[in-house]
Amino acid sequence: MSGPKMKLVLVVAIAGGIGVLGKAIELFPTASNQGYAPEQPILFSHKIHTGDNKIPCLYCHSGAERSRHATVPALNVCMNCHLVVKTESPLIQQVQKAYEEKKPIAWVRVHELPDYVYFPHKRHVAAGVACEACHGDIASMSRVEQKGALTMGWCMECHRGETAPPEVLRRMYPHVQDPHGPVAPVQCSTCHH
Ligand code: HEC
Ligand code: HEC
Ligand code: HEC
Ligand code: HEC
Ligand code: HEC
Repeated sequence: MSGPKMKLVLVVAIAGGIGVLGKAIELFPTASNQGYAPEQPILFSHKIHTGDNKIPCLYCHSGAERSRHATVPALNVCMNCHLVVKTESPLIQQVQKAYEEKKPIAWVRVHELPDYVYFPHKRHVAAGVACEACHGDIASMSRVEQKGALTMGWCMECHRGETAPPEVLRRMYPHVQDPHGPVAPVQCSTCHH
């Protein structure tokens, strides 16, 4: 077991359901990668694809609805369009070449949680949490940037209902005038197991 994972197992085992230590960890969060926007091997623009051309997020990230990971699309998904769209562009020729040579593009990962955190996309999508609530206005980005802090406090604030989007609150409390309250569990074992 690696260092941080060992530390986590110990802390979660000791804290159990008490929650006090959890609160302390939230108050002293680890460094966040907020604002991280690495250069990608091919300039892929969400602004062109989802902003200007209105391609739905799930067309390329279908995993978000079905599984833990949203997943980045394989090149054959790009080729659904780029066998015919803008084939004169040197950038598209780069994509076609990689496809023909069966060399997947080494996209640089932007959002990444430590491996001791369990985060399921599917559950969030099913509960009506929009991609934008966590990822910001991706449709306006020519290069993806991490908008959400992705710290434990950031997860907890939404689960407790403090920062939950109004439409999520309305779904959770359908018969209440001014809905507020928790929208998801905050027990340690929810996200660490
Ligand atoms: C035409 C395909 C396509 C569509 C449509 C698309 N994406 Fe992407 N997305 C990609 C590709 C390719 C990457 C990897 C390259 C990059 O990060 O720019 C990516 C990366 C991302 C990432 C960063 C992944 C990481 O490494 O952390 C997020 C978040 C994301 N997309 C969200 C969205 C959202 C939200 C929408 C809808 C508003 C959307 N995408 C629509 C293809 C697409
Ligand atoms: C509740 C917050 C939240 C919502 C809603 C959300 N994401 Fe994410 N997304 C994350 C987090 C956190 C990560 C990092 C996950 C990890 O490292 O395991 C991530 C990672 C990603 C990645 C890259 C890694 C992967 O999981 O394959 C893509 C692509 C992505 N999200 C796209 C989307 C799209 C598209 C939607 C909407 C359909 C969406 N996300 C909705 C929080 C969210
Ligand atoms: C559903 C159709 C569709 C899919 C799927 C798609 N694209 Fe595109 N792409 C477009 C359209 C439309 C444009 C804008 C073309 C224009 O400007 O005339 C575009 C433009 C681009 C450009 C800019 C080209 C330039 O020179 O301006 C790049 C690069 C690109 N796409 C890469 C990709 C990659 C990589 C993937 C797969 C991850 C992908 N596309 C998937 C439709 C698509
Ligand atoms: C914007 C609000 C929001 C953010 C941010 C958010 N969540 Fe959630 N989360 C939800 C909602 C809503 C549900 C669905 C609860 C349900 O299905 O009843 C949920 C459910 C979950 C579940 C499933 C809980 C169960 O019942 O088993 C896990 C695990 C989870 N979230 C982990 C995380 C982690 C880890 C983070 C931070 C990286 C995070 N969430 C950030 C809103 C959020
Ligand atoms: C809603 C999801 C969620 C819940 C519930 C949760 N955590 Fe976390 N936890 C995270 C995320 C995400 C990280 C990694 C990001 C960070 O370090 O801020 C993390 C990190 C940690 C770390 C490592 C911090 C560090 O400095 O290395 C510890 C220890 C921890 N959690 C303990 C707990 C305890 C104890 C509880 C219960 C009181 C708890 N967590 C409940 C999401 C959660």
